[in-house]
Amino acid sequence: MLKTRIAVLVSGGGTNLQALIDAQKSGIIKNGEIKLVVSSSQNAFALTRAKDAGVDTAVVSRKDLQTQQAFESEIKKVIDEYKIDLIVMAGFMSILTKDFTDMYPDRIINIHPSLIPSFCGKGYYGIHVHEAALDYGVKVTGATVHFVNEIPDGGRIIMQKAVQVRDGDTPQSLQRRVMEEAEWKILPLSVEMISEKFAAAKNGTDGMLQER
Ligand code: GAR
Repeated sequence: MLKTRIAVLVSGGGTNLQALIDAQKSGIIKNGEIKLVVSSSQNAFALTRAKDAGVDTAVVSRKDLQTQQAFESEIKKVIDEYKIDLIVMAGFMSILTKDFTDMYPDRIINIHPSLIPSFCGKGYYGIHVHEAALDYGVKVTGATVHFVNEIPDGGRIIMQKAVQVRDGDTPQSLQRRVMEEAEWKILPLSVEMISEKFAAAKNGTDGMLQER
């Protein structure tokens, strides 16, 4: 049985990548296989996590390339080389333009640490999302997995999970709780849900009646 070939795009610590690696080991992800990790920074700890799990890595740094176009074409090169079916942005902090997202319609997903449409779009990334949620005073926040199009955090929603804000939360404590209670759960579940569909299509079982 062919599996969905997955690339994970990262920039930092890679705890969401780790959740995906662990989910693959435990069998939560069974229709997909992480084939490649692409980091926008060569210092990302996510690269160590990938290497420890025996996953191939590539570094494509926006800073080292002259233009956004060159950056995106480098990513495309490696994605195509590995015959990737599904691109997962897991803490990937670089913007991808319409030129890139149009090449992979419904094949790129992202995890965002709030309940979209709150605290999302340009400027809302990482710890800033949780700072904004605490500044506003919301009592519930959470995480969202969504398809990626040219609008930052604007693609169709796949899965969401709510997380309670507690009195005395700091951006750091809230970020940690959102990761533990929401991100590390809904990202693997979303990846398996989509991988199952892609794998069925690859194996020609899409739409066929299951044998009993
Ligand atoms: C995660 O909270 C992820 O949702 C967020 O950055 C963190 C990366 O952590 N992503 C964004 O804000 C994207 N707009 P990780 O590297 O430990 O997975």
